[in-house]
Amino acid sequence: MLDYVTDKVQDETRQGEAFAPFANDSNEYRKRFYIESYGCQMNFADSEVVAAILNKEGFGATRNVEEADLIFINTCSIREKAEQTVRKRLTEFKKLKEQKKGMLVGVLGCMAERLKSQFLEEEKLVDIVVGPDAYRTLPALVEEAEGGQKAVNVLLSREETYADISPVRLDSNGVSAFVSIMRGCNNMCSFCVVPFTRGRERSRDAESIIHECKDLFEKGYKEITLLGQNVDSYYFVDEKRKETINFAGLLEKVALISPLLRVRFSTSHPKDITDEVLHTMAKYENICKYIHLPVQSGSTRILQLMNRTYTREWYMAKVDRIREIMPDCGISSDIIAGFCTEEEEDHSATLAIMNYSRYDFSYMFFYSERPGTLAQRRYKDDIPENVKKRRLQEIVDVQNRLSLESNKKDVGKTFKVLIEGDSKKNEMEWKGRNSQNKVIVFPKGDHELKKGDYVNVKVTACTQATLLGTIIN
Ligand code: SAH
Ligand code: SF4
Ligand code: F3S
Repeated sequence: MLDYVTDKVQDETRQGEAFAPFANDSNEYRKRFYIESYGCQMNFADSEVVAAILNKEGFGATRNVEEADLIFINTCSIREKAEQTVRKRLTEFKKLKEQKKGMLVGVLGCMAERLKSQFLEEEKLVDIVVGPDAYRTLPALVEEAEGGQKAVNVLLSREETYADISPVRLDSNGVSAFVSIMRGCNNMCSFCVVPFTRGRERSRDAESIIHECKDLFEKGYKEITLLGQNVDSYYFVDEKRKETINFAGLLEKVALISPLLRVRFSTSHPKDITDEVLHTMAKYENICKYIHLPVQSGSTRILQLMNRTYTREWYMAKVDRIREIMPDCGISSDIIAGFCTEEEEDHSATLAIMNYSRYDFSYMFFYSERPGTLAQRRYKDDIPENVKKRRLQEIVDVQNRLSLESNKKDVGKTFKVLIEGDSKKNEMEWKGRNSQNKVIVFPKGDHELKKGDYVNVKVTACTQATLLGTIIN
């Protein structure tokens, strides 16, 4: 899904990772659906919830879009380019629809929430529009659409967490799985559309999370990533057990399932990650030593306009604290170039904070104004595109150097690696990750190993994106 792409200038590192779900050749299904997902991991996780809801109704998934009776596209609104990609795909689906009578197309996710019935009315591109909190109503909406009605439900909820639904794992490697622990976001970062498309923050019942994780482990999964827009504000009151559970508590519960189950999480907001979380990470070997800690900008003035609620110094102190408690912890970031009013001085502060934080990896974007956001209403999108792109390139150049430096430091070290599968380029080699989330590729040799096994690998060389190594007995 999200892979290491630091060698390209990409505004859309998280986009266009389309996938088709599992194929099932039996004819027991009354209809076949095809689903394609864009955007963040939470959207991919939601598609697995959607697949479960449709499965229950007797709909089977297909990888072949031409074979589908229902096509769903789970969409992202985070940047303008993300929406353009989806629109392009929808016009392709429209052509397919014209060839196949009765085929229905549905828009799910954040774009559905943002544009609502506009899709049905103005553009006639689609038959069904469903926002992220309304997936339980999908079967009824399909029925309405089949009857020729406009089928739309974009109601946001304060409670929905799909806690009781066991997601159908789509295109999984059978080793790593994503588990949603919360939905929505209560932060109001001024550039961000997520609070509008995903609604208020709510935490999922801890017991249902643990249950899902245990079930995954029993099915052979070895790594779980707990997902939320802001995982550190997870907070659940378990009325039955008279217990309140914060993120550190949840992390510990998942870690205790088995020492053989790795635990990761994403995303941490720098303002909310606590010492308690850091100490919990340090305490358990199976909680991966890796934190995605998006800085967005290195300038306190810009951070204020972004409404990130921390300063440059505060962020740097957080990085220090992480390194103090876990000297071997990997840190990555998200960075936005060319936010409203950004001066060269602010941009330099971003480059400097990257160097200070020594990120192993970053997702880097140029600012894309989103309708309805605080920034769109309050500030002018006043940085010319060529300036945004030049600054982004400078950010990418710094990151490329930092990634290479970080990888070079690992040469000679030995890491415990979880094998995820064959390396893309060579089936005589395995690909896996270390605790710090770095990809390591190494020859299989004549060891009796399989996907999902742990193995000690000594790093012998590296590129900017990958560590290369050999198995140590
Ligand atoms: N909840 C996560 C981020 C979700 S969006 C967090 O708070 O870290 C992923 C990333 O997209 C953000 O971190 C930000 O860097 C980027 N992003 C969000 N809105 C954007 C916009 N309008 N233009 C450019 N990048 C944006
Ligand atoms: Fe968007 Fe900020 Fe919420 Fe992340 S924390 S989803 S960037 S509003
Ligand atoms: Fe995109 Fe929605 Fe995720 S806007 S980044 S799919 S929450």
